[in-house]
Amino acid sequence: MLKLISIVCAVIFLVHFTTAQEIGDEIRLHSTAKCQKGWFAAGDNCYIYVDKKTSWYNAVHHCNTVLDSHLATIQSAEINKMIIDESKRFGGSNFYIGLLHTNDHLVWSKGDSISYTNFSEMNLKFYVVSVCAVVNNIPASADFGKWSRIPCQQEQPFLCMRPQHAIYTM
Ligand SMILES: *[C@@H]1O[C@H](CO)[C@@H](O)[C@H](O)[C@H]1NC(C)=O
Repeated sequence: MLKLISIVCAVIFLVHFTTAQEIGDEIRLHSTAKCQKGWFAAGDNCYIYVDKKTSWYNAVHHCNTVLDSHLATIQSAEINKMIIDESKRFGGSNFYIGLLHTNDHLVWSKGDSISYTNFSEMNLKFYVVSVCAVVNNIPASADFGKWSRIPCQQEQPFLCMRPQHAIYTM
């Protein structure tokens, strides 16, 4: 009899314990899978479109200093597609991401390795001067959603990015 009671107690304990764990995990998922107001989530990051035309260098600076973020890195076709789906709301200007082409090398301003690109031009040309990447955001264009290289001084809106889980103060 005592044995039976202890087994029943153990089962009750396990059921309660498992339920509590599940609820805990659920709460944690919901509370972190969010971006601040004005930002949208794609992959592990939050992105924001800044509708302010400026050079690529100033865009890097603005993301860093004003929004505590980085000029956006895009590391997969899935993320590129999520950004393109959002970009219909942006207003039809090509926008900078954090990719610089200098001395025959591609460099992400955030320092990530180059694992994905989606340039509309087929060949990587050698550029004597630095050129910077924009995402083409003219829906009627055949290049929509692909990237182009433009002179870094050209003034364009831009996309900033920061991790979903970090807490920031502004
Ligand atoms: C490049 O972008 C276009 C437009 O968003 C998309 O259709 C295509 O699948 C992309 N290619 C790669 C390799 O991501």
